[in-house]
Formats: sequence, C-alpha cells, structure tokens
Amino acid sequence: MKLTSIYDTYTLNNGVKIPCVAFGTYKAAQGDNVEILKTAIESGYRYFDTASFYGTEKYLGQAVRESGIPREEFFIASKMWKDEMGYEEAKEAFLRSLENLGMDYLDLYLIHWPLPEPDCETWKALDIETWKALEKLYEEGKIKAIGLSNFLPHHIENLLGNCRIKPMVDQIEFHPGYHQAAAVQYCQEHEIQVQAWSPIGRGRVLEDAMIVRMASKYGVSPAQICLRYALQRGVIPLPKSSSPERMRQNQDLFSFEISKEDMYRIDTMPQTGWSGEHPDRERVRF
Ligand code: A2P
Repeated sequence: MKLTSIYDTYTLNNGVKIPCVAFGTYKAAQGDNVEILKTAIESGYRYFDTASFYGTEKYLGQAVRESGIPREEFFIASKMWKDEMGYEEAKEAFLRSLENLGMDYLDLYLIHWPLPEPDCETWKALDIETWKALEKLYEEGKIKAIGLSNFLPHHIENLLGNCRIKPMVDQIEFHPGYHQAAAVQYCQEHEIQVQAWSPIGRGRVLEDAMIVRMASKYGVSPAQICLRYALQRGVIPLPKSSSPERMRQNQDLFSFEISKEDMYRIDTMPQTGWSGEHPDRERVRF
C-alpha cells in the first residue's frame, strides 16, 4: 500500500482504521503543555498518543476540546502504568484516563509494560488478568482497539495462549540503530500492528554519520529519514516535538522513498541511540 499523507490508515486486525503517523505526548509536556498540543493539532496531527504515566492526558483533552474539531476526527490512545495492572486495577485506570481526558471512549488503550518490575515472577498471570479487563472494556464498546506496549514475542505468546481477543497493536522502541527485528517480525506474522516510540532515537541517531549522509542524498533531514524508515517497514512512528516547524517537517514524509539498498544499510547499522530500557532488565543509564 502506498501511503500519501499522515491521514492514510492501516487496518487493524479487528477492522479499525488507524492513521499511519501519530504525535507523541511524552515530555511534550515541558512548559506550556496545552499550547504545544494545540499547535500540534493546528499543524495537522489527529492521532495523539498519551499515557497515564506521562501526565499529559488532561492537557490533551483540553487541547482537543478547545480545537473545536469533533472528537470523532481524532484518534486518541492512552496506556495504563505498571502500578495499574490487574483486573480491577486496569478497569479503574481506564476510567481515570477517560476522566483526565474528559472523553467517553478511547480509540486505543495499551498495557504500558509487560512486567511491573524486571524481577516480577508473577508477570504471566498479571498480564492475563490485565488483558481480560481490556477485553471486557473493549466488548462494552468503551475502547475501539486494545493492545500492548513494550511486549516482546515471549510476552505476547503468553497472552495469545490464554486470551480470547488478540492484541491489535504493540508499541515498542523502534528507530535506526534499534529496530527490534525479532519483535517486529513476530508482530507482523501475527497481524499485530507495530508502532514506534522514540522513532528518531530521542535525537541521538540524528548525528550518526551514515544517517546524516543519507539525509543529504535524499534532500531531507535526518529525522525524516528515521520516520520514513519506520513507514517503509510498516511501522507507525510517534514523533514528538515542541517546535511548530519540526512538527510540520515530521509530517513531510511522502515525497521521497528510501531505496532498498539504503533500507538494508539502516537495518544493519550497529546499535545506536538505545534508550536503555528493556522490559526484562533493569534500566541502563548512559
Ligand atoms: P524538539 O521538541 O526541540 O523538536 P523521540 O521522539 O525520538 O524521542 O525524539 C524527540 C526529540 O527529538 C525531541 O527532543 C525533539 O526536540 C526532537 N525532534 C523532533 N523532531 C525533530 C526533527 N525533525 N529534527 C530534529 N529534532 C527533532
């Protein structure tokens, strides 16, 4: 499928249409949150990704309301945090998110991490209980699609073997230098749509010499190379920016195509810009 703008969609495994580019709100959120989000709406974004952990839900809700654009024109996703897992806890967390947003449904709701702590021995049962709450909310029509974040194949297998409804999405760290090929391949084989958090590697990838050379070859910025790389791998990027100019630049991804050879070069570059986060391990600080 040829994508032509950020409003083009993928179809999730339950038939719901999801835009191919989102705006990430984690730390969008330093300074005047509502104004940044209003600017993002004005610059064209309609798919916004938030989470209870980010503290941006209420600002996003306000920005959406004050935009005057009907709620149905937006695609709004949120996530429950590690301390909100469990059957009853997840249902309560969902209601809190709705209240923060001032909305009566979500387009997408995700479990933020598969393990509350790396040494959690009960994660398999906890994930199943949490997922059952999402299944219930989904069946009640309060969420249009349900999914995962930071789940690797072994975490997803646990759910697939024990649940009725297959996750529709998995949101993982994905950018040149950390593209998690095993997780992406597993999801794509199981019709789970992959989304990329930190699609430009929080800026670190932007200084990589090969990415800089490629950007100049295609006449775009290093960030556009990163975002286009995600699109060409069938992955939804969630760029975030506080600058109107970069917000617009991050939507300008459809007038060039990275060649097959250059895609392989990016696929095979050494690890660069990893956040230090891995669901099964203690965080590494660089
Ligand atoms: P800024 O808000 O000043 O634009 P990631 O989403 O990979 O975690 O990266 C987010 C960071 O990347 C933010 O600090 C943001 O800074 C910066 N950024 C976003 N878009 C661009 C761009 N097009 N060029 C350079 N930096 C960008």
